[in-house]
Amino acid sequence: MSENALIVYESMFGNTERIARAVRDGLRAYLPAETVPVNQAPDVVPADVRLLVVGGPTHAFSMSRLSTRQDAWKQGGLVTPVEVGIREWLAAMKQPAGDQVKRLQVTTFDTRIARVRRLPGSAARSAAKLLRRRGYQMLTTSESFFVNETTGPIRDVEIERAERWGAELGRLLTGSAKVA
Ligand SMILES: Cc1cc2nc3c(=O)[nH]c(=O)nc-3n(C[C@H](O)[C@H](O)[C@H](O)COP(=O)(O)O)c2cc1C
Repeated sequence: MSENALIVYESMFGNTERIARAVRDGLRAYLPAETVPVNQAPDVVPADVRLLVVGGPTHAFSMSRLSTRQDAWKQGGLVTPVEVGIREWLAAMKQPAGDQVKRLQVTTFDTRIARVRRLPGSAARSAAKLLRRRGYQMLTTSESFFVNETTGPIRDVEIERAERWGAELGRLLTGSAKVA
């Protein structure tokens, strides 16, 4: 069976979506990788997925909730709809069949505001905690990427860092050199 990476992302203003695509681009040097917005993500991770990456914006020091997504909407956001965020998707996610829980590696990322980066809250860390509690193996610790303001922009250096992080995930997962 071919092995793939799946990146499930939530994004209000488009910044996390840009990071998700950069992570995918970095991963693609090692294995096929696709991004999917959280409202279209399957509730069972397909059997050929070897790496699941989950990313979303940090809202109120953690993963978003309906109320915080509604706040974002009032500010003119909404790449993914308010109804579902990574918190709800992870809660509804069904355990994959057979030994996939053991084989599947996971990791998480978030976007948050650069100027308050020393504050503890991180959607990625909250998502990772939930995944670990459910028995999934973290390939790496979670990662944060920084926006200048609530709506962005996200600097090119962060996009480049996300692509390098994606490549690092690919290297760790496959333990191998790039595909041609
Ligand atoms: C309601 C709300 C709450 C937020 N809370 C935090 C926060 O606690 N810490 C932080 O660093 N950024 C916070 N932010 C900023 C978001 O992290 C930022 O909007 C997000 O990274 C942008 O990603 P997106 O364009 O994919 O939505 C908040 C934004 C909103 C709309």
